[in-house]
Amino acid sequence: MDADAIETLLERKTTLRYLEVKDGRLFFDGCDTIELAKEYGTPVYVMSYSEIMGRLNELKEQFTDKYPKARVAYASKAFCTTGMYEILKKAGACIDVVSGGEIYAAEKAGFPAERVEFNGNNKLPEEIDQAVRYGVGRIILDGLQEIPLIEAACAKYQKKMNIMIRITPGVAASTHDYIVTGKKDSKFGIPLDEDIFLPIVKQVLDSEYLDFTGLHMHIGSQLFENDAYLEALNVLMDWAARIRQEFNADVKEVNFGGGYGATYIDEPRKPYSFFMDPMMELLKKRSEEIGMECPAAVIEPGRSIVAEAGITLYTVGQIKEIPGIRKYVSVDGGMGDNIRVALYQADYKGVVANKAEEQTDATVSLCGKYCESGDILIPEMKVPSSIAQGDIIALLSTGAYGFSMASNYNNNPIPGVVLVKEGKSAWMVKPQSYEQIIANHVIPDFI
Ligand code: LLP
Repeated sequence: MDADAIETLLERKTTLRYLEVKDGRLFFDGCDTIELAKEYGTPVYVMSYSEIMGRLNELKEQFTDKYPKARVAYASKAFCTTGMYEILKKAGACIDVVSGGEIYAAEKAGFPAERVEFNGNNKLPEEIDQAVRYGVGRIILDGLQEIPLIEAACAKYQKKMNIMIRITPGVAASTHDYIVTGKKDSKFGIPLDEDIFLPIVKQVLDSEYLDFTGLHMHIGSQLFENDAYLEALNVLMDWAARIRQEFNADVKEVNFGGGYGATYIDEPRKPYSFFMDPMMELLKKRSEEIGMECPAAVIEPGRSIVAEAGITLYTVGQIKEIPGIRKYVSVDGGMGDNIRVALYQADYKGVVANKAEEQTDATVSLCGKYCESGDILIPEMKVPSSIAQGDIIALLSTGAYGFSMASNYNNNPIPGVVLVKEGKSAWMVKPQSYEQIIANHVIPDFI
């Protein structure tokens, strides 16, 4: 990134607003990133408390305070740690979980069970048991075979469960193919064929253990337009009308899903109200037309709360110049801590954090240390030509789906996460040790 680019980046206070450059060094939420690298080592993820809280406050102002009964259920999958759950608990948010592991972390963090909403296209019997025992607020039904499993757990714990039914609205959102979920050919949700969908609704309505609460949809991720959401909501409301007509039952809640876009390079981030206001207007209008009470609205943002709240710090190691071709600058992390580049060709911006004010007059390929040619973090990165071993690189907007999708490839430990807040810093997740990586390895005695 050249000097102009960093200026624009820092000026754009709506995004990446806790980054600053002082005396040529990059600061994040009041902390000097070079000092952080020294104190905590690299690679390391750094999350800004102020940025996370800022987004949660925007959601409050633009959604939950504005619309009665509205809820935000943070999508844990974007960044799931007990510290994150503590932040959400204090902020009064709900959470969306999709696995026994996320439920376990929420319970360990003392997260109130009634504020947990359980999603997933193949919830395991033991996960359903765990969720019902914990007493989650809602289970989002994603298929017929889940019904007897939920009922069995309810019978065992003598509880009733609120059930939302996830539909596949059959709209195509424009984003990367791997993160589109709302089109008809999807492993998620229940297709809206009346001979498939209506019997499932009926079974939920007839069950002594299940309370039919409403409908859920999620159309995709990293979206910047609201038309696909509105189109999907219209489909959902057609079926709310149908359910009323067939069974005289009301949809009391509607979950719009997540997917609100965040800034990685220079995508202009849209305020939550850009999505929420027209959605709420449509929800109200359609409910009036149908003659039903306006359902409570729920959203499940993940990325838009944490993406820009995270940066990753790396140390530059080997630098290789291939004459006439390119210069490779290697860092001490890579695809193990950020699989998104290899998996989705995701674009990231990077800064040489200790030379943040130097002219960026060279172009290099920023690569990781993993044994894979595709382990490139930024294929073409502008850096000062003085770049050298020991420099600190900050990759920006890595807070969503970085740590949560990290792997131990090549037995490299998963880096730790440091939380920063107005100049203070502390571990949120400690880095993994080699010992922890092989802790569960066993050598069978017949070898
Ligand atoms: N709700 C449901 C049912 C979802 O499936 C997802 C994301 C979300 C909410 C949150 O979406 P968000 O607000 O974070 O866009 N690993 C990919 C993203 C996969 C998203 C899967 N579902 C990535 O790194 O881009």
